[in-house]
Amino acid sequence: MWYATRASGYTALVLLSASVVLGVLTSSRESRRDWPRFVVQSLHRNLSLLVGVFLVVHILTSVIDPFAKLNFIDAFVPFIASYRPLWLGLGVVAFELLIAITATSLMRHRLGWRSWRFVHLFAYASWPIAVIHGVGTGTDTKLIWALALVGVCVLAVIAALIWRLAHAGPRFTALRVLGIAGCCAATAVLVVWMAAGPLEHGWAKAAGTPADLLAGSLGTPAGTPAATTTLSAGLNDPLVGSVVQSAANATATLTDTRDRTLQVVIVANSDGTGTLTVTRSGVRVCATSATFSNSGVTGQCGAVLATIQVVDQGNGSVSGTLATRKAGA
Ligand code: HEM
Repeated sequence: MWYATRASGYTALVLLSASVVLGVLTSSRESRRDWPRFVVQSLHRNLSLLVGVFLVVHILTSVIDPFAKLNFIDAFVPFIASYRPLWLGLGVVAFELLIAITATSLMRHRLGWRSWRFVHLFAYASWPIAVIHGVGTGTDTKLIWALALVGVCVLAVIAALIWRLAHAGPRFTALRVLGIAGCCAATAVLVVWMAAGPLEHGWAKAAGTPADLLAGSLGTPAGTPAATTTLSAGLNDPLVGSVVQSAANATATLTDTRDRTLQVVIVANSDGTGTLTVTRSGVRVCATSATFSNSGVTGQCGAVLATIQVVDQGNGSVSGTLATRKAGA
């Protein structure tokens, strides 16, 4: 479910950005023979409806999945969730603005052009709010593909807006220049905020992840009793990290590349032969501690069996996998 939340979130963001770009292009009233205006308009309308479909999946799966302990009220009343309340709340605001835009568009003929257009301008607010929600709430924000997707979405919308403002005719020149400067400034602010916030170490805590989720997902220093982490069955996640050698042992700290909030700390004895023999671990997959074998850690939490395999790559780096399955399956 959590994978579906993340996948549908990004799909909705890409479709929403494409729909905003097409909306900006249709508002320019320009029509080309090979790209007539009615084609752009119907594509804009259909993409917007598809955004709605993916958002329903996004919201349903985030509520059904037990990880963030969200309920349906959190999905409709902004800023009250216990999981990253501000950033999640912005998603709710963006979603509700989109509902207003869709509803008024479907009733456009009854509402009249002026009222419809007034509400439709909210689209411009809903898109950046959705971008900030995705970046601020998302687990995948730091991954290259996620950064690339957000980058492409932002550049496409900003480029469309600048093009629109630059081709809007001779009237209101000062306002249009101000608009273009505003677009560039907003992009710069987004980049600086991302670098100082969501891309920084410790964002999960700063963003308002509940303490029990943080304790469950972060590795603890070797030897100290570790917090219980809730793992779901069906994971097969690559781990990457580094290993620090001391005279007595080697400590490998690995991060789950699919879920950056999940870290695994493993202490192994270093016998000088290049083989790491795991002796104890900072990760516990359940209230009872895990069992150790030569190359990994296996433990059971309720019905979930987790295996962590680690390979010493040399030069201080380690890689591995975290696999979980239903016990007995
Ligand atoms: C226009 C509306 C929305 C858009 C475009 C959107 C998009 C996104 C994106 C792109 C992410 C990042 C996913 C990741 O990093 O893997 C995300 C995360 C998330 N969204 Fe939304 N979202 C919207 C509204 C909502 C609403 C109304 C909820 C209410 C339940 C919600 C719940 C979540 C949750 C729980 C996450 C965190 C998933 C994770 O940790 O990866 N979103 N959203």
